[in-house]
Amino acid sequence: MIKNTSATANSAETDGAKSSRNKVRKAVLPAAGLGTRFLPATKAQPKEMLTVVDKPQIQYVVEECVTSGIEHIIIVTGKGKNSIEDHFDSAPALERFLEEKGKKDQAEMVRKISNMVQVSYTRQKEPLGLGHAVLVARDLVGDEPFAVLLGDVLIPGPNPATKQLINVYESTGVGAIAVEEVPKEKTHLYGIVDGEPAPQPPFGERLLRIRELVEKPKPESAPSNLAITGRYVLPSAIFDCLERTKPGAENEIQLTDALRILAREQGLWAYIYDGVSYDAGHKLGFLKATVELALENLEFGAAFRSYLKTLKL
Ligand code: G1P
Repeated sequence: MIKNTSATANSAETDGAKSSRNKVRKAVLPAAGLGTRFLPATKAQPKEMLTVVDKPQIQYVVEECVTSGIEHIIIVTGKGKNSIEDHFDSAPALERFLEEKGKKDQAEMVRKISNMVQVSYTRQKEPLGLGHAVLVARDLVGDEPFAVLLGDVLIPGPNPATKQLINVYESTGVGAIAVEEVPKEKTHLYGIVDGEPAPQPPFGERLLRIRELVEKPKPESAPSNLAITGRYVLPSAIFDCLERTKPGAENEIQLTDALRILAREQGLWAYIYDGVSYDAGHKLGFLKATVELALENLEFGAAFRSYLKTLKL
């Protein structure tokens, strides 16, 4: 059962304490994977640093956090991921060089990347799965709710899925995960949820109470075609659930399996978020994300569209 904890508050003081406890300030970005789906490109560079149009994939995700009001990002890295830290660090020599050349706009753009938010790093020493990667961030998150964003799903735009989930969490006190419909034959690529409609203002029909979650089920055993998109807002209780989670699909500690425990013990919402996601986690999806985001680019989108029209397909 979903417990609507905010409904139990009965004094202004309790309300105040509750809302500050419910405030989602931190986000965990798992970035320790080996990127085998992108070999050979990822042999010597992190997949998170692969460029989509004009910036590394992980920058889109960090920008989604900033637009969603996140103040502190925890990136879980591993071996060979140092360029991620360099990207979000300051670059005084480059900034000076650009300023001396009169390229003030570029200097400002470079500076902004390192100033937009506080970033901390921790390492997942062994590739034990997504759930384990989130557990590694436990001490840095502490006892407060937090968001999780998977880097190979891009959801650019002014109303990010993470912001929508934060709204659900902050008004109900219950964790929420973003879902969207996928073709039935693709359920084996995602975590799939079974949820019952639980409409309530202001979220309406988009809100579902989760009954069950399954990681990457075959189409014939999938409980629905509602897939987990890679955006989560969770209470810190998820860490105890992760501690109790045994290796599951692909012999890894799956976040989806820990979410099943959380859903049973504390409730969990699935939220059919409003927006468009690009699944850049495999080569074809990455190419589609690149083309679609290039078409939207203010500087050269129109020219790119004209170019595509000249191709004899
Ligand atoms: C992960 C999650 C899965 C989710 C997916 C979204 O899988 O385990 O539940 O649906 O991300 O992209 P991965 O794509 O890392 O195999």
